[in-house]
Amino acid sequence: MLKISFAADIIPGQHALILTVAAKKKLGEQGQKLDKKLGGALSRAVEASHFTGAKEQTLTILAPARTRLTRLVLVGIGDAATADASLFIRVGAASVAALSGKDAQAVLLVDRFKELKLAQAEAAAQVALGARLRSYRFDKYHTKLKPEQKPALRSLTIASKDAVAAKARYAALDKIADGVFLARDLVSEPGNILYPETMAQHALALTELGVKVSILDEKQMKKLGMGALLGLAQGSVCPPRLVTMQWLGDAEAKDKSPVCFVGKGVTFDTGGISLKPGAGMEDMKYDMAGAAAVIGAIKALAGRKAKANVIGVIGLIENMPSGTAIKPGDVVTTASGQTVEVINTDAEGRMVLADALWYAQETFKPSCIVDLATLTGAIVISLAGEYAGLFSNDDALSEKLTQTGKIVEEKLWRFPMGDVYDKMIDSPIADMKNVGERGGGSITAAQFLQRFIKKGTPWAHLDIAGTAWLGKGVSTAAKGATGFGVRLLERFVADHFEAK
Ligand code: BES
Ligand code: MN
Ligand code: ZN
Repeated sequence: MLKISFAADIIPGQHALILTVAAKKKLGEQGQKLDKKLGGALSRAVEASHFTGAKEQTLTILAPARTRLTRLVLVGIGDAATADASLFIRVGAASVAALSGKDAQAVLLVDRFKELKLAQAEAAAQVALGARLRSYRFDKYHTKLKPEQKPALRSLTIASKDAVAAKARYAALDKIADGVFLARDLVSEPGNILYPETMAQHALALTELGVKVSILDEKQMKKLGMGALLGLAQGSVCPPRLVTMQWLGDAEAKDKSPVCFVGKGVTFDTGGISLKPGAGMEDMKYDMAGAAAVIGAIKALAGRKAKANVIGVIGLIENMPSGTAIKPGDVVTTASGQTVEVINTDAEGRMVLADALWYAQETFKPSCIVDLATLTGAIVISLAGEYAGLFSNDDALSEKLTQTGKIVEEKLWRFPMGDVYDKMIDSPIADMKNVGERGGGSITAAQFLQRFIKKGTPWAHLDIAGTAWLGKGVSTAAKGATGFGVRLLERFVADHFEAK
């Protein structure tokens, strides 16, 4: 694990140094000093390359003369006047990515530029967050890695003016990163290790942070009439679980209705009797990413002791074909009393959410409810990994979530909903069927969920099938699990529901 610390903005004498440079090759205060000390070697290296200081651009100079540094990395921040928090997160991430060499220790100097509008301490703290997010690895199942295949970097010192304030600010961001890492870990775990019971145990571990966790088993769910969740769980030898996590950080508002997050937790999705094709099926271990994001967000909020009351509810099942599995044509009764004809057993996520959403509303009367789910392949076709789909019955809630998504760079794109789409899931034999027509697959899935939302409850559904797992890395994450949703939910609470 990468150890992050803070220090004053002095130039170190050894190990690796990363230095921020602004657009148009502009060196900051310390950069100019260093350049002078090196007899102009910095400026000459920049002139000899295509490095301009553009956002996230890097230039590595190995073993610069007149110093004992092993390497000097210049990292661009672009125009200093417009550099914001998300830019500094990217800069921290790009810095760590550029250090894939031998260095176990490095200093990242967040230099001073007079045009910078962001407080220096804030910039330094965000750089640290980006660095930590990018340092994530999931290599616990590799037993034969050679030293050069393991990350060398162990300790990173963020050097900056106002280091004390930067360190204090980072303390909260570090807890957010803890939540993101937990979500990534859960998403990365294979289905034989992570199944409903074991995933519930990971949620239960949040008790240590003061989260109230309760776990319903099959018998209790049967009592509550959760025929949809249980129906889709019945093909697996792994029994389902429904987990509730309560973070009650605002005692003064304990009589007000809480915010509620609901997550799809299908720990493996074979498709059931409507079996998926074999190629790529291994990816379906990440079909619990919505639930993982909810656990991660609650961990982040509890970790930094957020002054807010937030509930997380996750429905956990494994979707398997077997002699006991649910069949196409079967009709189940949901906890809401509504009946569903199961046309396709691979549309299991909405069945799990139907009962989880109903339970959340009945139990907590939330002021608003946001669900996250790797719900449809169609959303991947629409948006790839760039945006998650947003579906909602409430313009104000949509606007808040969209804005938060921009801030944390977990972007959302709102889709239309309406009666025409809703009719597509009417069934001749039951209240509804679990799939619509071929077109608008992500929308009809959302319409299905909306049938389990009570009138007057602001609700949003985030389809994260395309963003939870990436085949190619992005700035803050290598390829694989992204932890998408954790920072979004955390910030959504911070900006809109947290007592100051
Ligand atoms: N878990 C899948 C959706 C998915 C696809 C997630 C790709 C991540 C990547 C979901 O349960 C599913 O199978 N959906 C079906 C719905 C269809 C049967 C209406 C789909 O998208 O094909
Ligand atoms: Mn499925
Ligand atoms: Zn699924």
